[in-house]
Amino acid sequence: MELTAKDFVPIPIHEFVNGVTIPVDLYIRIGEEKFILVGKALTQSNVDQFKNYQNREVSYLWVRKKEYYKLAHQSISLAGIALSKKELDDTQKTTVVSAAARTMFRHVEHLGIDLETYNNSKQITEAVVGLVENHKTLSGLFKSLAKFSDQLVGHSVAVSSLSVLIAQNMGFQKKATLEKVAMGGLLHDIGLKALPHDLINKPIAEMTADEHQLYETHSFKGMQMLQSLGIVPDDIVSIVYEHHENSIGQGYPQRLRDVKMHPLAKVVSLANGYADLILPNVNCPVPKNPREALMYIEHTLGIPYNREAFRALKKVIDSEKKAA
Ligand SMILES: [Fe+2]
Ligand SMILES: [Fe+2]
Repeated sequence: MELTAKDFVPIPIHEFVNGVTIPVDLYIRIGEEKFILVGKALTQSNVDQFKNYQNREVSYLWVRKKEYYKLAHQSISLAGIALSKKELDDTQKTTVVSAAARTMFRHVEHLGIDLETYNNSKQITEAVVGLVENHKTLSGLFKSLAKFSDQLVGHSVAVSSLSVLIAQNMGFQKKATLEKVAMGGLLHDIGLKALPHDLINKPIAEMTADEHQLYETHSFKGMQMLQSLGIVPDDIVSIVYEHHENSIGQGYPQRLRDVKMHPLAKVVSLANGYADLILPNVNCPVPKNPREALMYIEHTLGIPYNREAFRALKKVIDSEKKAA
């Protein structure tokens, strides 16, 4: 049977690492619906050799959808190995964890969410918790996340790690709770994957009223996606559904106030708002530094988040300043 574009997932060629055995067949697209096999699975591909294929510049290698999960496994096990290596610094570790997250998000985009992805995201979450617990500097973490070309991935890993730090400083100690908050942080914007590409890359200020309304459905869509799996804990589902609520009842979709919000959603909502200020994104091309962002939330916005969570975030950033 002839394979067509809908059978493949495109992967930017620069994401492949030379000298690593790639567990899947690699294809190059040579026409609208024409693909040719260039690298056999389980051989050590020198991917650079594909960059100029028969005098055409190749930006993507294509992997069959059916096999994509193998790449996801590899990416996640690489993250696990990297975290245990002492000789790698925080920045390198953040990069491999984020690469695993990117693989997971791409899976959701092309194949939807399934149990396999959910289990992968669980492993990434454990890696994020490990990363946060052992990190030396936060600025290193933020810097490597800001560099990530896929902004949603950088943002999601940032929200996940910040949520863990805030929760710890609020006194949440149990590993299971920290993993839930990390997971909610990682998956909070998963509903965006169900919206048109152009819309999520558009600044909110430029959206029409209809587009804005559609954009705001991402919390609900994310909740539905996770619920459809049937095994995601309610706490995580609530975090995803409530991540745009705020303490003053001006968030969406339900305009909940602080007392009505899920305790862990209060944490992720702040981490989400803060990450949007310190990492570049479509709404904020020039981000603030971590201190300025705190001042902005406190003085310009008047802390529309849970106060206790905000104090905890301040402590996190202050301790970083002292350590520097
Ligand atoms: Fe969101
Ligand atoms: Fe977000």
